[in-house]
Amino acid sequence: MDKRELVEKREQYLLPCYAHYFQEYLYLTRGEGQFIYDDQGRRYLDCFAGVAVVNCGHARAEIRRAVDQQMNQLVHTSSLMLTEPMVTLAEKLAAIAPGKLQKSFFCNSGAEAVEGATALVKAATDNHQFIALRSSFHGRTLMALSLTAQRSWRGKGPYAPGIIFVANPYCYRCVFKLRYPSCGLACAEDIDEAIRTSTNGKIAGFIAEPIQGNGGVVVPPKEYFAAVSQIIKRYDGLFIDDDVQTGFGRTGKWFGIEHFGVEPDVMTLGKGIANGLPLGAFIATPDVAPALGLGQHFSTFGGNPVNCAAAIANIELLEKEDLIGNADRVGSYFLAQLGKLADTHQTIGEVRGLGLMIGIELVKDRANKEPHCQGLIQLVEYAREHGLLLGKSGLHANVVRITPPLCFRREDVDQACEILEAGLNRIDSIA
Ligand SMILES: Cc1ncc(COP(=O)(O)O)c(C=O)c1O
Repeated sequence: MDKRELVEKREQYLLPCYAHYFQEYLYLTRGEGQFIYDDQGRRYLDCFAGVAVVNCGHARAEIRRAVDQQMNQLVHTSSLMLTEPMVTLAEKLAAIAPGKLQKSFFCNSGAEAVEGATALVKAATDNHQFIALRSSFHGRTLMALSLTAQRSWRGKGPYAPGIIFVANPYCYRCVFKLRYPSCGLACAEDIDEAIRTSTNGKIAGFIAEPIQGNGGVVVPPKEYFAAVSQIIKRYDGLFIDDDVQTGFGRTGKWFGIEHFGVEPDVMTLGKGIANGLPLGAFIATPDVAPALGLGQHFSTFGGNPVNCAAAIANIELLEKEDLIGNADRVGSYFLAQLGKLADTHQTIGEVRGLGLMIGIELVKDRANKEPHCQGLIQLVEYAREHGLLLGKSGLHANVVRITPPLCFRREDVDQACEILEAGLNRIDSIA
């Protein structure tokens, strides 16, 4: 179908809530590794990866073969029956997950994983009160959205009761106007005060992303989660690590939380779990998992053999090609090169990230840190015109989000930085 017709039909038949990322429609037809192609055969270097999903790269033959094979054998029976891929995947997840996380539940998306994980934690603690972070994003179902603190994404409500939002560990824009490390992790310490003043003295849990993705690639100080874990334990709370966006090698480790030396009680997964096939999961410790008893949670498609086969092939590929090590190495190089751009471009307020999850926060003025929202739009558009796809994020919509497939190479970084530099030269003049 030609592009004009496709656009007309899209507008006619799809809900208008489907925003299009770019000012002009981009009609994508094919992907290969870290590249993606439009209907005219034009190649783009993909630093978006379908919102941090296609971690092994586009159109991987190994995953296609696993899917084909499973499609030919058995597509669906529901998790009420015994099938091998779901069990094998659960075993693999237990092997790579941090700490004592061992027992999985499979669903279809990150938001569903958050729904299930919070249901489990509520059941395990007999409490419904959660501590969540400002600028968080956990998905668009009721509980997930209730835990999400980004005004532009919250609808009319009403939302689930008992949720207390606390300051996120966003050092660049610290709400306490303090500086790390002399701040003494005031944002973590404040959680104690929040629990004492705003709950009945006990909580169900604390939920957070190891790095806030949609919130603007907010990387907490390395001691942050250990400090928070101690506080929430005092109030019998459990820690849900939302590793939906940071999981499966994105940050240079299997899971984002591994950078912080803590063991969550429950971890939610999605996005990169099956390299683009829809699958979500949560995994819990053997102590917590039994709280959801027989029949207390279920998903018709969750754990279906085809998507689980894709996830198994995905994990094997990440291991075989050392894509996680590559994310770490190439990510460090990317951060260093972007650091050089920050030396010469005043519109870069901060470059931050871990592995291949990187944010560039754009400001109009480094002194007052006024967000440069127009600059983000212009930079992302310029990059697209010049063959580079970038993401957007941040509470103020001023952070470039860079999340390429983990097979990204140093020469791809050089190419991306060249385009970014030319784009920054343009927006510097409109700051
Ligand atoms: C950290 C995090 N949690 C949950 C979700 C929701 O995932 P999904 O869109 O698959 O429901 C997202 C999606 O962006 C996410 O980034």
